[in-house]
Amino acid sequence: MKFFIDTANLTEISEANNMGILDGVTTNPSLMAKEGISDVNGHYLKICEMVDGDVSAEVISTDYEGIVREGRELVKIHDNITVKIPMIKDGVKAISTLAAEGVKINCTLIFNVAQALIAAKAGAKYVSPFIGRLDDIGQDGMVLIEDIRQVFDNYDLDTEILAASIRHNQHLLACMLAGADVATLPFKVIEGMIKHPLTDSGLAKFLADHAKSKG
Ligand code: E4P
Repeated sequence: MKFFIDTANLTEISEANNMGILDGVTTNPSLMAKEGISDVNGHYLKICEMVDGDVSAEVISTDYEGIVREGRELVKIHDNITVKIPMIKDGVKAISTLAAEGVKINCTLIFNVAQALIAAKAGAKYVSPFIGRLDDIGQDGMVLIEDIRQVFDNYDLDTEILAASIRHNQHLLACMLAGADVATLPFKVIEGMIKHPLTDSGLAKFLADHAKSKG
């Protein structure tokens, strides 16, 4: 399973990247705004130069011409750029156009299997189902990953399932069990994966015993 980090914070990206476990990065306009980024394209370039993997850069336009124009500009920034396009009618049309030109697309804001299938048929490299946001409205986001996996396997679709809006380890566990290809993780979830209280207490005991045995 590939791990992406879901942030625009360069310190978090660098820390995760230095662990050697990062396969890519996802950003979105909210994450960029949170970091107070004004030179958005310059920021994408910095991320691309740090991480050897796909970096999702989201379009702002919602009309076909605008999405295609933005997508063509974004891919000029760096080979790692993957254009993130929302699941709307003009977005689907733009995915078809850009994918035919060889542009890597991450279709975002996926909330049901039908949307995932449409994005895959249009040629998206990734579909991003948002698990946490489904949970927020009382639906089981994790079932969506299982269902998309089943449908993509039924029809031999090679679009990758990029599980997004992951809030905690249980989400991640469900994604791994359901066979998501990629999980994009907030930095705190990556840190949470590493930590276990028995690891901490076990290590403390090993170190204390070592100190005792040295006299
Ligand atoms: C994914 O590409 C999105 O940026 C992200 O996972 C959304 O997560 P949120 O629902 O926690 O904002």
